Amino acid sequence: MATYTTVEGAKVGILMGSASDWPTMKRASEMLDSFDIAHECNALSAHRNAEILQKYLIDAEKRGIELFICAAGGAAHLAGVVAAHSELPVLGCPMQAWSLDGLDSLLSTVQMPKGMPVATFAIGGAGATNAALFAVQMLSMGDSALSERFSAFRKEQSEKVVQLG
Ligand code: RP5
Repeated sequence: MATYTTVEGAKVGILMGSASDWPTMKRASEMLDSFDIAHECNALSAHRNAEILQKYLIDAEKRGIELFICAAGGAAHLAGVVAAHSELPVLGCPMQAWSLDGLDSLLSTVQMPKGMPVATFAIGGAGATNAALFAVQMLSMGDSALSERFSAFRKEQSEKVVQLG
C-alpha cells in the first residue's frame, strides 16, 4: 500500500501526482532548501492514491504544514483535490507530462470553480521554482529574518541580470 514520508517541523508539503514529476519538482525543493525551509516531498496521486492522500492531508495539517505545493500533469486534479480537503493555501504546478506541452495540465489546475482557489504557476520548471519562491514570500509575512533573506535573493538576482547585460 502507498504511504508517505514526513519531515519534523516541515512548513511546506510538496505533493506530486507521480514520481515522474520529481525531476521538475526537485527545483521547488532545492529552492526551499536554499532558504532553509523545512519541507516534505511526496508522490500521491489524486486518482491512484485517493484514500492515502486524504489521510496525509489531515495528518499534515495537524503537524503544522502551512501550505501545499501540488504538481500534476494531464487531467491534473491534485491541486484541486487538495484544496477540497484542506483550508491551507494550495499552490498548483502544471507539469508538462506526456501531451499538449502541458496545456492540459495548466487548464486543469488553473480553472478552479469559484470558492476553491488554487494559485497556479507556469508549466514546468519555471512554475516549480516560482511556487517555491511564492511560498517563501508567504512564510516571510510572519518572519522578518526570512523576509530579509528573500530581499537579498532578489537583489542578487537583479545583479546577475546586470552582469549578463
Ligand atoms: C499525472 O500523470 C502525474 O502528475 C504525471 O505528471 C502524469 C504521468 O504520470 P505517470 O504515468 O508517469 O505516473 O498523474
